[in-house]
Amino acid sequence: MIKIACFLTALLAVSTSAEYTGPTNQAGLNLIKEFEGFYANFYTDPVGIKTIGYGHACHVWNCAVPLNGKYNVPLTQATAEALLKEDLVAPGRYEQCVANAVTYANLNANQFSALASFTFNLGCGNLQSSTLLSLLNRGDVSGAAEEFAKWVYAGGQILPGLVRRRAAEKELFCSGGTCGTSTTCRGVTNDGINIRSSPSTSASVVGSLASGTAITITDRASGTNVNGNPYWFKISNGYVSAYYVNISSSNGAAWCAKN
Ligand SMILES: *[C@@H]1O[C@H](CO)[C@@H](O)[C@H](O)[C@H]1NC(C)=O
Repeated sequence: MIKIACFLTALLAVSTSAEYTGPTNQAGLNLIKEFEGFYANFYTDPVGIKTIGYGHACHVWNCAVPLNGKYNVPLTQATAEALLKEDLVAPGRYEQCVANAVTYANLNANQFSALASFTFNLGCGNLQSSTLLSLLNRGDVSGAAEEFAKWVYAGGQILPGLVRRRAAEKELFCSGGTCGTSTTCRGVTNDGINIRSSPSTSASVVGSLASGTAITITDRASGTNVNGNPYWFKISNGYVSAYYVNISSSNGAAWCAKN
């Protein structure tokens, strides 16, 4: 019986440390509110969509008044925020989309909320097909964070409002230092190479990379000399010899270097 009790305790401990699945926290709500803007009455947005409150778009939602059967127009900031929360949590919408798409087990409330804002703005399909999501689900949080900045185009043009929104989302996503200090240490493999479980040519092979693969490097360690180079780069699932990597962008940190 004691053994069973311990086993159950262990299971509970695992489940409480699992991925955060909502709701969007207040920092995330504030971010969405800031970038959507508050409109007490219906208006037509720049692309012709009838909208109200904080980005409550009438081509997505039934805009019969009272909205959602209870919010009279004009909205107050409080009823608009209540409406926004209902939009976020609605079946098949933004928060469910994030919760279903992310398999990264340590997702925290800030990361979730930044992704909820991203999805509210860009739609579920864009999150699902994004490199941001695939890097995050591989555990590469710093690599994922760098992807926000790519989602700033509308009609082939960079929109300053999107640049600011993505920067704010990245800041929320990374708050608490979860993206590390090495978010811009990136490299490219210069040969087909093995990924090792530790910085040694005798450590087990955990994967391989084709020549020319872009990698996000989170740390550098000393290990077995490879053609005179003692350094190994840590990537999401192991180590690769620095000899076979060219640095493509450095954060200026001394360790983010090949030699
Ligand atoms: C890596 O750097 C070497 C030396 O500068 C260069 O000759 C080679 O083309 C680079 N390889 C890649 C994949 O960038």
